[in-house]
Amino acid sequence: MPNIGPVSLDNPFVLAPLAGYTDLPFRILCREYGAAIVFSEMISCHGLAYDHDKTHEMLASHQLERPVAMQIFGAEPDIMAEAARIISEHPIDIIDINMGCPVKKVVKKGAGAALMKNRNLAAAIIRQVCNNSSLPVTIKIRTGWSHDSVVATDFAKMAEDNGASGIAVHGRTWSQGFGGEVDWQTIRRVKNSVAIPVIGNGDIATYQEAVACLEMSGCDGVMIGRGALGNPWVFSGSGTPATLAERMEGLARHLHLIQKYSNPDTILARIKNHAGRYFKGVAGGSALRRQIYAASSFEALLELTYSINF
Ligand SMILES: Cc1cc2nc3c(=O)[nH]c(=O)nc-3n(C[C@H](O)[C@H](O)[C@H](O)COP(=O)(O)O)c2cc1C
Repeated sequence: MPNIGPVSLDNPFVLAPLAGYTDLPFRILCREYGAAIVFSEMISCHGLAYDHDKTHEMLASHQLERPVAMQIFGAEPDIMAEAARIISEHPIDIIDINMGCPVKKVVKKGAGAALMKNRNLAAAIIRQVCNNSSLPVTIKIRTGWSHDSVVATDFAKMAEDNGASGIAVHGRTWSQGFGGEVDWQTIRRVKNSVAIPVIGNGDIATYQEAVACLEMSGCDGVMIGRGALGNPWVFSGSGTPATLAERMEGLARHLHLIQKYSNPDTILARIKNHAGRYFKGVAGGSALRRQIYAASSFEALLELTYSINF
């Protein structure tokens, strides 16, 4: 895996940005299990530039998770530039720009995947963010807007020309949402069209699939999102444990990191979403998930976790 700007990575496996999930404790956990670099959830440039406390809290970071990329989204170059300046005062490694989010309220404002339809604006955002930060800047895109506008290769060249140090490509168009097949051929073409590192993304569920996608696409790295939920083992060759006992070790470590690096009682719903994922595919898993969702506090969740007999 080559460097992203000056940031060197130990291996090609990357934790994708997932709103509602890739907070500080989960990012540290994934680094511990082998991810080379981790991406934050998308952070509003408006929230940063206009001092919203909740948005600034999303910049919480720790030496243990580095290298880390903080992802911002927005559609106004000057506000994105201001967000980049603010982020650059924090001890992080990369600024990533979201150019792939399909959510209506984001796209309606011209941000996220809508930028793939507006190359000039996207170029201006990349340039201004680069100009306002000494950190390397990457972008995360889709293959295009719809099947008749698969523009990822030209878009990637534009990004490289305007200063981007790397590109992650989710192999779907905006109109595909999260359905349909991942287009690894287009990801491969993107890889072959630029000199900066390209990271392929989409539907990778196991370590073995990650290795296969890496080989098939020729990419410098692969990014894993949903496949890492309740399954940080996806980043290590040993694979996902079959037994509940081993999975509980991962959950216990995750809960410990949550306790240490966040404010658990304010994010109980989010913690339950994470915790429930550890029981996917194990015997009795759905009953355990129901108990997790019924827990009334973080303490209750901890007690429940330690009382599970296996
Ligand atoms: C719940 C959820 C939240 C997501 N949040 C973000 C985000 O904040 N920024 C981003 O660029 N992509 C986001 N994505 C897209 C993922 O990073 C990734 O591109 C997509 O899920 C495909 O990869 P996967 O199949 O490995 O999950 C999100 C996806 C999901 C399912």
